[in-house]
Amino acid sequence: MVKRRVVKKKATRSRRLPPPPPVEPPPPPRYPSLIDLSGPEVPPDTWAGEYPPPEFTTDWVEGRGHAWTHWLASLTNQPVSALELGTFEGRSALWFLRNVLTHPASLLTCVDAWSYDYTGGFGQEQLSADSGTTLEDARQRCLRNLRPYMRRGRCAVVTMNTQEFLRTRRPEQMFKLIYVDASHYASCVLEDTIAAWWHLAQGGIMIWDDYEWVLDHRQDKHELGRPKLAIDAFLSVFEEQYEVLGMGYQVCIRRTTKNPFE
Ligand SMILES: C[S@@+](CC[C@H](N)C(=O)[O-])C[C@H]1O[C@@H](n2cnc3c(N)ncnc32)[C@H](O)[C@@H]1O
Repeated sequence: MVKRRVVKKKATRSRRLPPPPPVEPPPPPRYPSLIDLSGPEVPPDTWAGEYPPPEFTTDWVEGRGHAWTHWLASLTNQPVSALELGTFEGRSALWFLRNVLTHPASLLTCVDAWSYDYTGGFGQEQLSADSGTTLEDARQRCLRNLRPYMRRGRCAVVTMNTQEFLRTRRPEQMFKLIYVDASHYASCVLEDTIAAWWHLAQGGIMIWDDYEWVLDHRQDKHELGRPKLAIDAFLSVFEEQYEVLGMGYQVCIRRTTKNPFE
């Protein structure tokens, strides 16, 4: 009988791989509601039919009406005081007046310097070149466009640098809506925003335009020439004082904390 050599297999230690690390769930979005700004516009009403139709060379309202209607539903047709920083020809002002500030006791204060001394992200000269108009023409057009509402005490136009306006205005009379659309330089947007916060009532709404605006012709200092850096900084530092209503090309927040001047 042939003896078979039994080769004992060396017990090999089973090479166990360490368990894979638990898959982290993605963090919840920092800003819960991303609002699509491309919805249909609210049709303009023709309340001011006795005046010549408004005239504009630019349209920085297109595509925003849908979100504004949604965000500002609680203010619509209420006796609210609102502030617009940066009015140009009055297109956005007219939209707010027609669609939100419809209560006879509501008031929109529009502040614009219409001056080449202040900058709008790109220089004011560029703003004029892009719109094919001068700032003085834009101011005259704005006054004509808003006249029906100014006559009825529903709109006031202030020709002033926004920073100066916010610094010198007494904040006792709070605004329920502030639209930030003046200088687009991050430093100015930050200054406007923080100063405007003193004038916003608890429950009041603040909207910034051009959060995602891309400035292709000023690659140098790109971030300093547009509002995003300032808006992000404000949102971080004032994190406990607001809730986000929408974030996309525009940013909209509601103040949740009491304003010390209230
Ligand atoms: C983008 S336009 C405003 C557009 C307007 N909100 C609309 O949607 O129809 C910006 C305006 O801000 C004004 N502006 C820029 N910097 C300013 C400042 N520091 N103070 C006051 N107005 C300023 C400009 O004169 C310009 O009319």
